[in-house]
Amino acid sequence: MDFRHQVAGRDALAGLQLDALLVVVVGAALDPGLDPAVARLVKDAVEQGDLALKKGKSLYLHRPAGLKVARLAIAVAEDASPKAVKAAAAQALGLVKHGAARALGVAVSGAALDAGHAEALVTAASDAAYLYRHTKPSAPPAPPFRTLTILCRKDEAKAVQQGIRIGSAVAAGVELAREYANRPANHCTPSVLAAQAKKLAKSHDLKVEVLDRAAVEKLGMGAFLAVAQGSDEPLRFIVARYNGGAKDAAPVVLVGKGITFDTGGISIKPAAEMDEMKFDMGGAASVLGTLRAIAQLAPAVNVVGIIAACENMPSGRAVKPGDVVTTLSGQTVEVLNTDAEGRLILCDALTYAERFKPAAVVDIATLTGACVVALGHHHSGLFTTDEAVAARMLEASRAAIDPCWRMPLDDEYDEALKSNFADMGNVGPRAGGAITAAMFLRRYTKAYPWAHLDVAGTAWKSGAAKGATGRPVGLLTHFVLGYAA
Ligand code: BES
Ligand code: MN
Ligand code: ZN
Repeated sequence: MDFRHQVAGRDALAGLQLDALLVVVVGAALDPGLDPAVARLVKDAVEQGDLALKKGKSLYLHRPAGLKVARLAIAVAEDASPKAVKAAAAQALGLVKHGAARALGVAVSGAALDAGHAEALVTAASDAAYLYRHTKPSAPPAPPFRTLTILCRKDEAKAVQQGIRIGSAVAAGVELAREYANRPANHCTPSVLAAQAKKLAKSHDLKVEVLDRAAVEKLGMGAFLAVAQGSDEPLRFIVARYNGGAKDAAPVVLVGKGITFDTGGISIKPAAEMDEMKFDMGGAASVLGTLRAIAQLAPAVNVVGIIAACENMPSGRAVKPGDVVTTLSGQTVEVLNTDAEGRLILCDALTYAERFKPAAVVDIATLTGACVVALGHHHSGLFTTDEAVAARMLEASRAAIDPCWRMPLDDEYDEALKSNFADMGNVGPRAGGAITAAMFLRRYTKAYPWAHLDVAGTAWKSGAAKGATGRPVGLLTHFVLGYAA
């Protein structure tokens, strides 16, 4: 999709030549500045009882009287915040996305538009336009959206254009992350992920290096190897670099969990919903998506993306409960539960990250079911002991409308990882499971400022709308931009 802005007041919508006009109405009172033809339609609909100026209400009109556009979708936003405007715009988009509209326009009545609004409108449109087709030839065509024009006043135009620029990049990154996370595990193996990273490097001026098992053995990543050893599918360790900053500027390092399928291994998972464990590489997909967004925006910052990719399978060669492995850091781990594999591949990737002398390291992982129990599907779990990194994360989360919630990391939780046979076990008791997983990772991240995002509840949706969300590409993109010179 193509995104642009046009200076055309909310008072002059009647003459616009578009396939569909989306009007977001903020609040319960109509802005007197709204185009009279649109205002007349809204008032009439309210009087007739077909629309209420309340959050969540919307109306579709075909060939609306007094307007040149063929389609009009009206949706009401609770307030003027980018978050509320985005929710209303998404609703209006839903009303036109099954039709034939290619050229869309969007006007927001009752809010002064800033960059945050524009970014929100762009990402909402891009989200609505995405349809998974890769392994479903019978899928209906994706919405035919080609362009979204944000209608704004002259004094808003500069900020709106900035928001469009960031939003377009985030949207492209989110789409990439969704697409790869959606692909089934037999279509998205570690090798496919590595090939995709190489392809991205060609088109977006990144440097990508891919390590195979021999290289990972040579380095001594005993924990990553232990997880991968049960599968016939070869592992891949992917290192992708974006160099936009000064040569000696410390990079931001993003580390993604790339389990392309998680059976649980010998500690095998129950059958119900196990298919959703194809999404267990959502963290890795978000690293690729963020690198794509950053490369498009070309900020003055250095970024390293690290992805540890393999399958977690049971087999005659699989790691067994009680096995002790030696990590790249030299610390030993008793693998008490082979289903706690994410932390095993991440700990070696996090130790590997030390060589970049990072300004900050963020790992992104669909790490624990416990995080889903704690936070549901709205907030990602944020874990960090670094106050400055926490503040940056929460601000990026707000700016991107990609919510995360800070969780505790007190030393007391570390007790749970004690083992009689190794420096630590890989699991604690059920209680506080998202926290003990983070405490495990913390033991490998003492050399740099670090944050962990548990996206187990936010990287994909279950049920009828089953599919990847592309989160937290928005949050990560804003976080990285915060380090740009
Ligand atoms: N990939 C899963 C986490 C997960 C489970 C994400 C369900 C989303 C939905 C992870 O590898 C895992 O299996 N974690 C275990 C850890 C436990 C054995 C300590 C879990 O959460 O059950
Ligand atoms: Mn698991
Ligand atoms: Zn997993």
